[in-house]
Amino acid sequence: MALIEVQNITKIFGKTPDKELAKVKNGMGKDQLLAETDHTLGLHDVSLSIEKGEIFVIMGLSGSGKSTLIRHFNRLIDPTDGHILVDGEDVMALSDKELEDFRRHRMSMVFQRFGLMPHRTVLQNVAYGLEVQGIAKADRETTAREWIETVGLGGFEHQYPSQLSGGMQQRVGLARALATDADILLMDEAFSALDPLIRSQMQDQLVELQEKLHKTIVFITHDLDEALRIGDKIAILKDGVLSQVGTPPEILLEPADDYVRAFVRDVNRARVLTVDTVMQPPAVRITHDNMEKALADMRRHDEDFGYVVEDKEFRGIVTQEGLAEEVAKPGDSPSLYAFADDSNAVELESTLEEALPTTLEADYPVPVVCEDGRLMGVLSPEEMGSVLTPPEEQTDADAEGAEEKAEKAETAKPHALKEAS
Ligand SMILES: Nc1ncnc2c1ncn2[C@@H]1O[C@H](COP(=O)(O)OP(=O)(O)O)[C@@H](O)[C@H]1O
Ligand SMILES: [Mg+2]
Repeated sequence: MALIEVQNITKIFGKTPDKELAKVKNGMGKDQLLAETDHTLGLHDVSLSIEKGEIFVIMGLSGSGKSTLIRHFNRLIDPTDGHILVDGEDVMALSDKELEDFRRHRMSMVFQRFGLMPHRTVLQNVAYGLEVQGIAKADRETTAREWIETVGLGGFEHQYPSQLSGGMQQRVGLARALATDADILLMDEAFSALDPLIRSQMQDQLVELQEKLHKTIVFITHDLDEALRIGDKIAILKDGVLSQVGTPPEILLEPADDYVRAFVRDVNRARVLTVDTVMQPPAVRITHDNMEKALADMRRHDEDFGYVVEDKEFRGIVTQEGLAEEVAKPGDSPSLYAFADDSNAVELESTLEEALPTTLEADYPVPVVCEDGRLMGVLSPEEMGSVLTPPEEQTDADAEGAEEKAEKAETAKPHALKEAS
């Protein structure tokens, strides 16, 4: 079960929301509801699941309902209809005492305008959440110092917020949220007030921290580039209605509606998509050290290139021509593992932009390897080209091809690799 389950949440702002609920349920949209009843539709029938350990981004234009949604999670807002479950527990069922505990220990929040206390030092600000939890002064200061160090503010403990730049103030906000040790971090436009350069540094730092901390982070932004950069999953809201939830490649390659399509049109896909979304299984995978047998395999499959793997580890590429030449020489054939050429490979995590030069230079599909050296798939310039073409320039036939590609990329996982031996 997901860590946070949002089930059919509808939120109507105004005097008699319960009375207007039926109209919304019958399909009345935000504009009409406002015009006819003077009620604002904050969210309409939103359902989504947030898994433990992921960075879940909620994206949408101003007024689309992002803050309204996130405030349901720690019950700063009660829904007009629907349920929120955290760890399987209905937050509406919490007693006041339980709710207080829940807010102090389970979730911490980072705000757009930093929300620091001006008359407290950096150290006191960061220690604040721990003070509220009732932790002794010496202990909370030790913890606070560690987090100040972690976010790169060592030495600034005794400064006041006004003495710090915006980026530094937001680092204090982040350290304060992390210090409480809550496993869920809610970040509402936390980087939106920062200058672009500082902002991208903060994005990198958050992703880096997350690799160590494995928190569950719900991150709100109105900026698609930011969403694509840090999100494991992205939910797109429009006028209180969820347009799509998906991974960055899903959002880019299979936008659910015209709204999402318009959003993603100008994105530099090469910079966002990683090679794992485009790679294919290699045509011939050779998992033994026998040159004659490898040559026979490749002839049988009528393939020019073979990908040699020893104990799952990628050893290199061989060509049918090269093998034929070696086999024809008198005497024993050399080891296939040693003979294979491993000079060209791209890493699974590379973006298409990073992989492009290697892919274009090679006259064969370039091997994609993961960190531990396993062969995950192969990458050809044609496949790259097909996903890099923006949707409006694609013909219908191309679009179908791209969908097929996305499906195939799924099956390019190691278990689906064909064994040629
Ligand atoms: N307390 C409130 N009272 C009335 N309307 C509200 C209130 N909070 C939010 N809204 C309305 O609900 C909609 C969603 O707002 P919000 O969640 O703040 O959007 P976002 O965070 O995406 O900018 C907007 O139309 C906003 O005006
Ligand atoms: Mg907001």
